[in-house]
Amino acid sequence: MSIVTRRDAIKGITAGIAAGSAGLAVSGTSSSAEGEATVTPVQAARAFRGEHQPKPLAFDPAKLKGLSEKLLRSHHENNYTGAVKALNAVEQRLDAMMKDKDLPAYVYGDLKREELIRTGSVVLHEHYFANLGGDGKSGGAVLDLIKTWFGSYEQWEAEFKRTANALGGGSGWAILAYNAHTGEAHNYWAWDHMHNAPMSRPLLVLDMYEHAYHMDYGAAAAKYVDAFLQNVNWEEVNRRTEALPKS
Ligand SMILES: [Fe+2]
Repeated sequence: MSIVTRRDAIKGITAGIAAGSAGLAVSGTSSSAEGEATVTPVQAARAFRGEHQPKPLAFDPAKLKGLSEKLLRSHHENNYTGAVKALNAVEQRLDAMMKDKDLPAYVYGDLKREELIRTGSVVLHEHYFANLGGDGKSGGAVLDLIKTWFGSYEQWEAEFKRTANALGGGSGWAILAYNAHTGEAHNYWAWDHMHNAPMSRPLLVLDMYEHAYHMDYGAAAAKYVDAFLQNVNWEEVNRRTEALPKS
């Protein structure tokens, strides 16, 4: 790590805050050979570095049934990748704002809300895209879990569809999740990126924001839900199920 003078470091911090970037944190003071006090710059703490990278699509978007390549690429490149970039910017701006000792807490709270929104968007979009690209045929551990908690695949699917369709024309997520606290599997309704049942681990995630289907289906959200179910990658859903903590 390079050594800079205190004067240089202060200039860097000032410039960083002015630009809304993470700037430099300063720790440790020592004397240089020339006798001038020096400080060692350190990176922002990991929580504030904003280093999230978007994950590429793991399937060929031209080959899904009933979901166009144009829609999938637009969703991935604009909405998901945009959320990753926004989360990075929010984390870096939080670091810069913490250097302003006079900043009112309620102003800081506005950005903490954004951190929650963007984190939810990134996590749920990554689950959504990763559980697409399959043949829609369920099986394995997740099917056992579904039968345990819903009686049959058909009964689970009926409730999952109704939950998703309840969000049609608006925003939100339909999520089959395992709740690590209650030990139960449920289809959860989520109005936005911040709605999550505490302790729930998402197994199958369906994006019900209009940007996920409007290009292909207009307002016909139920047709999009049907198309989504034809393309579920149940192997990925099974990996998530098998990774659940054993009780
Ligand atoms: Fe989305």
